[in-house]
This record gives sequence, structure tokens and C-alpha cells, in this order.
Amino acid sequence: MINIDIKRLEEIKKNTESIQGWCNAQGAFLLYALALNFAPGNVIVELGSWKGLSTVWLANAVKDKNDGKSLVYAVDTWNNGVRFIYSLTPACV
Ligand SMILES: C[S@@+](CC[C@H](N)C(=O)[O-])C[C@H]1O[C@@H](n2cnc3c(N)ncnc32)[C@H](O)[C@@H]1O
Repeated sequence: MINIDIKRLEEIKKNTESIQGWCNAQGAFLLYALALNFAPGNVIVELGSWKGLSTVWLANAVKDKNDGKSLVYAVDTWNNGVRFIYSLTPACV
């Protein structure tokens, strides 16, 4: 069974509005749903986080999983001064 809270999706979408990124709302919802319901272990490694939009969706899935042991590693070269960490606080993760 897939566990999805539409109000929670809307809340995360609102919290991530200021983050520039490559995934649209549908892609972000799918990423969140997959991470929340189907991640096989406790560790998610994202390769190519850029400014953190997809990372924040993954981090919110981990937060909502609330198992006290899951976490997300974000990996990127962050070339050309791309700012990643600044995305996390306004997005509430
Ligand atoms: C399309 S962007 C990622 C978009 C992001 N996931 C989002 O949702 O907004 C691809 C990213 O992959 C990173 N990247 C490409 N090759 C890489 C490598 N070999 N190691 C780490 N990061 C890499 C780039 O720096 C770039 O930030």
C-alpha cells in the first residue's frame, strides 16, 4: 500500500518554491512517494543534487518515514559556486 498525504505534498511544494531545480511537481511527488514507500534500506544517496530541490524532497520523505535511522547523502561537484546548503533551511529540513 502506498502512503501519500496530499496536504503534506502541498506543504512541501510550498516550502520548496524558492529552490531552483530540474524536477517539476509531478517528478518531485514521485520521488517523494518512492523514497517514502519503497526505499529498500535506511540510506538514500543522491548523485547530482545541484541546488538541492530533489534532495529536499528526499529529505522530507525520510523525515516523514520517521524511523530515526534513515538519512540522505547528497553528492555533487557543486562547480561554479552552486549554493546547496542555503536551500535546506527555508525548506524546513
Ligand atoms: C540536472 S542537475 C541535478 C538536478 C537536481 N537533482 C534537481 O532536482 O534540481 C545534475 C547535477 O549532477 C552533477 N554531476 C554531474 N556529474 C557529476 C559527477 N561525476 N559527480 C558528482 N556530481 C555530478 C552536476 O554538478 C549537476 O549539479
